[in-house]
Amino acid sequence: MPIEDITQKVSARYANAASTGEQMCCPTSYDMGYLKTFIPEEVLKISYGCGTPAGLKTVRAGETVLDIGSGGGIDCFEASRLVGPTGRVIGIDMTDTMLEIARKNAVVVATNLGYPSSNVEFRKGLADAMPVDDGTIDLIISNCVINLAPDKRKVFREMYRVAKPGGRFTISDIVADQTVPQYLVHDTQKWGDCLSGALTLTDYMNGMTAAGFFGIHLAKFSPWRVIDGIHFFSVTLTGYKVPPATTASSVRYATLRGPFSRLVDERGMTYYRGIPQSITPDESRLLSLPSFSEHFLLTTEPIPLDNHDPRWRAVLPADAPCTWQGHYALLAGPFVEATDDDHHVYRRGEPLEVCSKTVAVLGTDGYQPHFVLLNRAGEGAGGEAVTCSPDGGCC
Ligand SMILES: C[S@@+](CC[C@H](N)C(=O)[O-])C[C@H]1O[C@@H](n2cnc3c(N)ncnc32)[C@H](O)[C@@H]1O
Repeated sequence: MPIEDITQKVSARYANAASTGEQMCCPTSYDMGYLKTFIPEEVLKISYGCGTPAGLKTVRAGETVLDIGSGGGIDCFEASRLVGPTGRVIGIDMTDTMLEIARKNAVVVATNLGYPSSNVEFRKGLADAMPVDDGTIDLIISNCVINLAPDKRKVFREMYRVAKPGGRFTISDIVADQTVPQYLVHDTQKWGDCLSGALTLTDYMNGMTAAGFFGIHLAKFSPWRVIDGIHFFSVTLTGYKVPPATTASSVRYATLRGPFSRLVDERGMTYYRGIPQSITPDESRLLSLPSFSEHFLLTTEPIPLDNHDPRWRAVLPADAPCTWQGHYALLAGPFVEATDDDHHVYRRGEPLEVCSKTVAVLGTDGYQPHFVLLNRAGEGAGGEAVTCSPDGGCC
């Protein structure tokens, strides 16, 4: 399908949905009861998101927030409440019917929030050519939109352009556990359903990294649908536009604490648990981001750790048989590669089959936030328990 056709058909689909109030899409978990207290029903009933990017404590008072594909405006209005009267929100959408509903309700929401005037502005535009000035946005949000854009990499570059240095994104979208085949890509109905245009988690995260973002990691995961064995799921991802370090840092060494025994970050640096590594000021900035910091000791002098040190972290698999139940683990950042204590090497976004013992390990605190776990056993798995080799070879 040519790019113009995709854009035009997606827009027509959402224009129709907005004018009929059709129920569409996807797993979200906003507290609609609360949102109803200040957002009109007309907006809530055309909420077509797949996450809560304006929730999850992402929005801060006084910030400038951009919502890509704002639709009827649900996330813009929640962000409007959270930034407060001194903050600003810009919603971008390509569909006139959506923009009309959103603009009409901006005034009502401002009154309900007790603001002297609305702090939300809705602009017509495309996600891959946004009518927004360079370096002006603190936080970019988006809810189930980028999968609908024909050229995602262009959207990611636009996001990087408009973000302030030090700015960040929190984006909910549908991704797939494998490349969506051509017979689904060319199915117009499934484009509009947020399925055909879904990237793999690997391509999504790599696209963000290629655009310049760092520290990209999972904030939330919800299963969505399985079509012809392809798992579609919603992720909410956060990442940062990290400015270059301009001053010397007192931090000169990083020591990996675990529970991973080895990590590779988005700058290509490899760390081994317990071994201090000399780092640059830029690397120090990266490892200071919230998504990395709990895993590292950042110090002025090299500090080795061993397994007697309380700062050393490890989660060993149980010494027991395991069963293969159809589970696959997908590393969801902020690292591009990671190794555990059972010799598994996880690569960002790539499904790796794991047995019941590893599922238990990945469910523990140090690992759990970094993984999406899927079960691909369609009929249920009845595998016999197997015993691993002493070095953990089987699972
Ligand atoms: C699934 S709806 C989500 C709307 C809103 N974010 C929400 O959570 O209710 C997708 C919205 O994105 C808009 N959209 C889709 N592709 C777009 C693009 N390439 N550029 C700008 N807007 C787009 C559609 O017009 C529609 O309003």
